[in-house]
Amino acid sequence: MTTVQRVSVISGGASGIGGAVSRRLAAAGDLVVLNDIDAEAAKAAQSDIEGTGGECLLVVGDISDQAVVEQVRDVALGAADGRIDVLVNNVGDFRPASKTFLHSTPEQWQRLYEVNLRNVLQLTHALLPTMVEQGHGAIVNNSTVEAFRGIPGHVAYSAYNAGVVAFTKSLSVEVGRYGVRVNAIAPDLNDTLQTPAAAMLRGRDAGQLPLWVPLGRFGQPDDCARVVEFLASDAAAFVTGQTLPVDGGTLAASGWYAREDGKGWTNMPDHP
Ligand SMILES: NC(=O)c1ccc[n+]([C@@H]2O[C@H](COP(=O)([O-])OP(=O)(O)OC[C@H]3O[C@@H](n4cnc5c(N)ncnc54)[C@H](O)[C@@H]3O)[C@@H](O)[C@H]2O)c1
Repeated sequence: MTTVQRVSVISGGASGIGGAVSRRLAAAGDLVVLNDIDAEAAKAAQSDIEGTGGECLLVVGDISDQAVVEQVRDVALGAADGRIDVLVNNVGDFRPASKTFLHSTPEQWQRLYEVNLRNVLQLTHALLPTMVEQGHGAIVNNSTVEAFRGIPGHVAYSAYNAGVVAFTKSLSVEVGRYGVRVNAIAPDLNDTLQTPAAAMLRGRDAGQLPLWVPLGRFGQPDDCARVVEFLASDAAAFVTGQTLPVDGGTLAASGWYAREDGKGWTNMPDHP
């Protein structure tokens, strides 16, 4: 039996979580259509993929720009025989941020909207007709645990990412009948350029991680990529509308910390 090569589109596919997704899907044999705003990082990802025998087409540009969305669609449609099997809406960013919502500006909300929610709708809207027509497709969106847990200082970011979760759920109901599945991941504490381990620790001893994160470590981009690969695969053929936290257990803990003296847990503000 011959397996047809999947065409997989990844936004923000050069580095961080998206970079791990592109490399992982290409290593599994997918033809990857990689969009990224960073031309150099995109070329580096393409060369990594091709260096290990994979296939990768680049579309460099801001995915919140409709012209770039259309370019991604056209490149994906021309990549093989007009099929698009997988879409990973990975782009999202908590910047620009102000210290508080009180001090934030409408310009910041607009950019956060474009980068966290609108681009997900735009790219999905452009690729969905092909998935519906061919009778199959898997969409995996990238949200955040902060869609579920409040985060002071990032009010608009968390609101738009809660929008990604609701979009995932509602769209899955609309398009299930066409064989299209829609799921999402909700990462926390992944060591990437956007949230480097050093910035997350802010001078604290990394030895304290087991007190903070139930699984005792920061995540690596491939922790998320493996879950994206699963959600995009036939192993998840009966899973749709779900957002899966990939967070080492922080959402489950939600404010509970292991005590340093080993005597159970605490949710007190001074974490004795
Ligand atoms: N790292 C974490 O712990 C974490 C936590 C929660 C949610 N997330 C979500 O995961 C996703 C990826 O995060 P990351 O930490 O890997 O980020 P990152 O900033 O390290 O990587 C993002 C990638 O997307 C590209 N990109 C950024 N804006 C773009 C745009 N407008 N158009 C095209 N490409 C663009 C960047 O060049 C980069 O290659 C985001 O949606 C983010 O909100 C990450």
